[in-house]
Amino acid sequence: MKILFFSLLILFVSVKADEYKDFDEFWKNLTEMLETIAKLIPLSPDANRNISELIDYYGYPYEEHTVTTEDGYILTMHRIQYGRNKTDAEASRPVAFFNHGMGGCSMQYVNGGPDRALGMMFADAGYDVWMVNTRGTTYATHQSLTEKDSDYWDYSFHEKAIYDLPVSIDYVITTTGQESVTYIGHSEGTTEGLILTSTKPEYNDKINLMVLLSPVAYMSNLTSPLVRLASQQQELIETILNLLNIHGIPFSPVLAALAKIFCNDASSLQNMCVVLLDFVMGFDIYQLDKSFIPVIANSMPAGTSVKEMIHYGQGIKSGLFRQYDYGILNLYHYGTFDPPSYDMQKVTCPVASYYGKNDYFAAISDVEQLLHELPNKATSHLIDYEYFNHIDFVFSKDLKELIFDKVIEVVQKYNPTNPSPK
Ligand SMILES: *[C@@H]1O[C@H](CO)[C@@H](O)[C@H](O)[C@H]1NC(C)=O
Ligand SMILES: *[C@@H]1O[C@H](CO)[C@@H](O)[C@H](O)[C@H]1NC(C)=O
Ligand SMILES: *[C@@H]1O[C@H](CO)[C@@H](O)[C@H](O)[C@H]1NC(C)=O
Ligand SMILES: *[C@@H]1O[C@H](CO)[C@@H](O)[C@H](O)[C@H]1NC(C)=O
Repeated sequence: MKILFFSLLILFVSVKADEYKDFDEFWKNLTEMLETIAKLIPLSPDANRNISELIDYYGYPYEEHTVTTEDGYILTMHRIQYGRNKTDAEASRPVAFFNHGMGGCSMQYVNGGPDRALGMMFADAGYDVWMVNTRGTTYATHQSLTEKDSDYWDYSFHEKAIYDLPVSIDYVITTTGQESVTYIGHSEGTTEGLILTSTKPEYNDKINLMVLLSPVAYMSNLTSPLVRLASQQQELIETILNLLNIHGIPFSPVLAALAKIFCNDASSLQNMCVVLLDFVMGFDIYQLDKSFIPVIANSMPAGTSVKEMIHYGQGIKSGLFRQYDYGILNLYHYGTFDPPSYDMQKVTCPVASYYGKNDYFAAISDVEQLLHELPNKATSHLIDYEYFNHIDFVFSKDLKELIFDKVIEVVQKYNPTNPSPK
C-alpha cells in the first residue's frame, strides 16, 4: 500500500516534470522531496548519519585532512587517531591506511560501528586510522573542474594510483612522523595499491605491509554475469554514454533516498533489493544483513568515472593487467601499439591477500595468477566460507571473525602497536 502510494507520488512528480523548464531545479526538488519521505521511515539511525556523526556517535575522535593532487583534485582523508580507550590517546601509533573500492568511500570502513566496521576495529586495536577518498567520490572536489565537466571524470584507477595515493601517503607519513604505513585496500583499492607499488617502486619502502581484501588485478575468469555482459557490449555502451554526455556517475541522493524508501525492514520490496545487490556482488544471503542496506546506501555508490569501468572491462577482455587501452592512440600515449603491463615483480613490499569462494569480481583462479607473480607474500588466505562474496569483505555479519581477526594478526606481526625499543 505504502509502496503504491510512493510509486504514484514518483509518477506524479515525473509527469509534472514536463512543466519544468529547468531540469536541474526539478531534480533538486525531487531530491528534496524523496529525502523528506525517507526521513519519515523508521531506519537504523546510522542510515541518516554522515561520517563525522558516525565516528562521533560511536565514541571515536574525528579528524579531516585535505590534500591536493598534482592534477588539481582536492581529496579529504578521514582520520580516527585512537580508539575508545582514551587513557592511551597520546601514545604514538602505527598507521593503518585504508583505501576503498569502486563506488565506495571512507564510509565503508565506519558504517555499522565498532562491531562491524574495520576502521573502528583497527582504532581500538591501537592503530592510527586514515581513510582516503579518491577522486570522483563524495569527499573529493577539483580546483577548477566540477562534476559537470567531462574532464573531471577523465581518469581511471591508474591516475588514482599514481596521483591520489602518493600525495595522501606522503601527507600521512609527514603528519604522523611514522616511517611507513600499513596499506589496506578493498577491491579497486587493491588494484590501485598494486599499480602504485609497481609504477612508483619507491613506495614499497613506505608500505610495511599491503593488505588486499578481494584482490582485483587479473580478471579473465570474472564471474559476475552482469559485468560480463557489459564487457561484451562495451563499445555500444561507450557510444551511448558518449552521446548522452555521461562521463561519470556521482553519488546520487535520489538513489540513496529510494533505497531507504524501498529497502527498509518494513518494505515488501526489501527482498528485491537483496536480490539486486547479490546479483551484482555474488549471492550470499547469509552474511548480508538486510537492515544494513539503507545504511550502505546512505553513502554509496559514492562516485565512479566511466573510464575506470571501461578500463576494468578491457582487463576482462584482454586477461591482462595493464594500462588503459586507447586503441590507435596508444602510440601517442605510450609510444607502443599495446598499453604497458603492470609488472608485479616490482611490488616488493610484503603482501597479505584475502579472497573469497563466491566473489563475482575476484575469481579464485585470477587471484591465484596474481599470487603466483607477487614476489613477497606475507600470507594468502582463502576465506573459509562457501558463499563469501565481494562486499562481505566490508559488510558481512561475521566480519570480525572472518576478516578482522585474521588480518589484525598479520598486521601486528609486520607492524606491532608496541614495538620494542631498538
Ligand atoms: C521547486 O520548489 C520550490 C519551493 O517549493 C518552488 O518555488 C519552485 O517553483 C520549484 N521549482 C520547480 C522547477 O519545480
Ligand atoms: C555532518 O552533519 C552535521 C550536521 O548536519 C554537520 O555539522 C557536519 O559538518 C557534517 N559532517 C560532514 C563531514 O559532512
Ligand atoms: C587503555 O590504555 C591503557 C594505557 O595504554 C592501558 O593500560 C589499558 O590496559 C587500556 N585499557 C583497555 C581496556 O584496553
Ligand atoms: C581462466 O581464464 C584463462 C584465460 O582465459 C583460462 O586459460 C583458464 O582456463 C581459466 N581458468 C578457469 C579456472 O576457468
